[in-house]
Amino acid sequence: MNFIDKLNRRYASKMMNGTPVADEKIENILEAIRLAPTSLGLQAFEVYVIKNPQIRQQIYEQAATGQPQIPGCSHLLVFAAKKRISTEMLDEYVSLIRRTRDFSEEKLTSFRNMIGYLEKRTDEDNFAWAARQVYIALGFALAAAAVEEVDSVPIEGFKPAEVDRILALDDKNLASLCMMAIGNRDEALDYNAKLPKVRKPKDQIFTEL
Ligand SMILES: Cc1cc2nc3c(=O)[nH]c(=O)nc-3n(C[C@H](O)[C@H](O)[C@H](O)COP(=O)(O)O)c2cc1C
Repeated sequence: MNFIDKLNRRYASKMMNGTPVADEKIENILEAIRLAPTSLGLQAFEVYVIKNPQIRQQIYEQAATGQPQIPGCSHLLVFAAKKRISTEMLDEYVSLIRRTRDFSEEKLTSFRNMIGYLEKRTDEDNFAWAARQVYIALGFALAAAAVEEVDSVPIEGFKPAEVDRILALDDKNLASLCMMAIGNRDEALDYNAKLPKVRKPKDQIFTEL
């Protein structure tokens, strides 16, 4: 199967069968998230990888009762963005570049000055910006799961404040935005599994000039 065949195989699973997904496949999906591009390269988000069935059950019951994929999945990813961009975060990022690339101090200082505009913006603006990076990472994760031929579903239908409470995200300067359940479809109960894709025709999406 080529990439497009695999994207056609992918669909938003509505019911998973509780069987585990191999660690190697999960690692590849997580690596795709780590390799996703982010604005300035700052990666102002974290992802909680929840295998623990009790925690998944708690999230299902207290924050996402409409999402039966959560108890039935193998791993639940919770994507959370930084609520505030701090001076320390920016300094740490420049240190990481210094350790990774053979850049002059002059170049590093100039870059640090350039990204300083983030410290002057409101937390609200920075969070909205970080959230957009999260969704690129989610897209990479969904595509990676498709490549691995593992079933998945992106999930926005949950109460973020409850998930933040359960995972104590606020203490870590994080707020949840979306989740992704990874697992294996329940062939009998997953009504989405055999439905054809609903997509607009190309001419309603693309404008060629
Ligand atoms: C950001 C985002 C949030 C979504 N939230 C949910 C959700 O909460 N529950 C769910 O079952 N599906 C959710 N979906 C899945 C969409 O309904 C699904 O991707 C869309 O209908 C297209 O179908 P397909 O993915 O099977 O091709 C979400 C999709 C995206 C991209």
